Amino acid sequence: MDIIKIIDSIADKIFEKRDELSELDRAIGDSDHGVNLSRGFQKIKEESSIFSKLNYSEIANKMAMILISNVGGASGAIYGTGLMRVAQSLKGVEELDRDKVGVALGAMVEGIKFRGKAIAGEKTMLDTLEPVEKIFQESKELSICEFLDKIEEVAQEGMESTKDMLATKGRASYLGERSIGHIDPGAMSSYIIVKTICENLREEFKC
Ligand SMILES: Nc1ncnc2c1ncn2[C@@H]1O[C@H](COP(=O)(O)OP(=O)(O)OP(=O)(O)O)[C@@H](O)[C@H]1O
Ligand SMILES: [Mg+2]
Repeated sequence: MDIIKIIDSIADKIFEKRDELSELDRAIGDSDHGVNLSRGFQKIKEESSIFSKLNYSEIANKMAMILISNVGGASGAIYGTGLMRVAQSLKGVEELDRDKVGVALGAMVEGIKFRGKAIAGEKTMLDTLEPVEKIFQESKELSICEFLDKIEEVAQEGMESTKDMLATKGRASYLGERSIGHIDPGAMSSYIIVKTICENLREEFKC
C-alpha cells in the first residue's frame, strides 16, 4: 500500500473541495473549515516525501503535529488528537492489515471523542467517523472490494445525516435550531477523507 500516495491524494481532494467546505462552514460556523484544513493538508503534502523514511506510527504523529500547528480552530486540534491516538496504536507495526487498521480507526474515534467531548448525533465529524468505525469492525467477512463500497456508503449516509441534526457542540451550537438544515462541514471533510482512501484502495486492489 502506497501510504504517501494516499496522503497526497487526500491533500489534493481537500484542496479541490476547500471552497465547498468553507461554504458549509459559512452557513453554521465561521467560513474557515475548508481553507484551514486545506492549509494543513498542503503542509503535510509538502513534507510527505520524508514519510518514506518513517514507520506508520511516526507518519501519523508527524501528520498530527502538522495539523495541530497549521489548521488551528476546533478541527485542527480534534483531527490532530485523533491522529496522535492512531500513532500510539500503531507503535511497532511494520505491516498494515485490516485488523490493525481497525484498531487504529477505533483509537482515532476515541481520541476525537476525548478531545471534543462529543458523541454521535451532535452534528460533528463523529457522525461520519463513528458509523464507519462500527461497520469496519462488523464487516470483516466481506471481500475487500465489497468492504470498501460499504465503508464509503456508510460514510456518505453519516455525513448526510448531519443535515437534519441540531448542533450541540462547537461553533454551530451557537445557532441552536438554525443549525438544522445544513450539512456539518467537519462531517463533510471526514467523508471526503474516507472516500479518497477507499478510491485509492479500490485502485490498488483492482476493484
Ligand atoms: N466538540 C467537537 N467534537 C467533535 N467535532 C467537533 C467539535 N467541535 C467542532 N467539531 C467539528 O469541527 C468542525 C469545524 O471545524 P473548523 O475548522 O471550522 O473549526 P472552528 O469551529 O471554526 O474552530 P474555532 O471555533 O475554534 O475557531 C465542525 O464542523 C465539527 O465537525
Ligand atoms: Mg469554522
